[in-house]
Amino acid sequence: MGRLSDRRIVITGAASGMGRAIALAFHAEGAKLALLDRNADGVALTAAQADADAFGCDVANRAEVADVIARAAQSLGGIDGVVNAAGILDIKPADELTPESWDRMIAVNLTGPFNIVHAALPHLRAAEWATIVNISSVSGVMPMAGTSGYSASKAGVLMWTRCLGMDLGPHIRANAILPGVIETEMTRYLSENPEHRAAAEERVALKRLGDTQDIVRAALFFSTEDSAFTTGAALPVDGGFSWR
Ligand SMILES: NC(=O)c1ccc[n+]([C@@H]2O[C@H](COP(=O)([O-])OP(=O)(O)OC[C@H]3O[C@@H](n4cnc5c(N)ncnc54)[C@H](O)[C@@H]3O)[C@@H](O)[C@H]2O)c1
Repeated sequence: MGRLSDRRIVITGAASGMGRAIALAFHAEGAKLALLDRNADGVALTAAQADADAFGCDVANRAEVADVIARAAQSLGGIDGVVNAAGILDIKPADELTPESWDRMIAVNLTGPFNIVHAALPHLRAAEWATIVNISSVSGVMPMAGTSGYSASKAGVLMWTRCLGMDLGPHIRANAILPGVIETEMTRYLSENPEHRAAAEERVALKRLGDTQDIVRAALFFSTEDSAFTTGAALPVDGGFSWR
């Protein structure tokens, strides 16, 4: 019997990186999944491996999200949990970040999770108990050069999650994961540059980059009764980076 047996869960960003790893792991734990990503081909590939429904969907498009969540709920027979992993990163000094890029990062990274939760809320309320897991970032709690727009979006997700914890309890728990540098497509520019990689590894207490499995374990914790008395929390999974 899996730790997520019969749990009906929506995962965004499931074509790649953390969202994809979480989808495969949750499937192995017995969850029934609806997977969303802007990359329709990529999410279909993950869905085929996770025996899941796949939806090509831009989380920033509220009407599209409402339609997809309604279809996902119908197909799953309800929704017990959400994992918001879709996200984008544009690294630029603050004075070079364009208004268009700012708008897009806020729309995808902050308003996207809002759109998903807003559409899923009636279904989460109808479930026996429900969980929301938002992937924020260490960037949401510490300033780093060139990440003003991204960090603002992730700080927003973090505070929004805390407020959700307050407003949606006791029936629905909402928690945030704060990844450090995790090896995915998003950080390929860094992990494949030996100098940058060494610097990133040296900067953290555990002297390595994170793996998607590090994030999977945190998402599993927050999506099961293992975290039954935890809501509005923010868990750094960063090798010891954000507290330094
Ligand atoms: N990799 C890291 O070091 C790191 C660190 C901290 C936080 N994060 C966050 O973790 C989450 C997962 O990132 P990842 O590292 O797996 O990156 P990734 O690029 O491998 O995966 C992100 C996925 O989100 C999808 N996506 C992007 N915009 C979308 C949209 N508008 N609608 C639907 N899907 C969209 C992409 O198509 C992709 O499949 C993101 O929110 C990211 O900001 C990543």
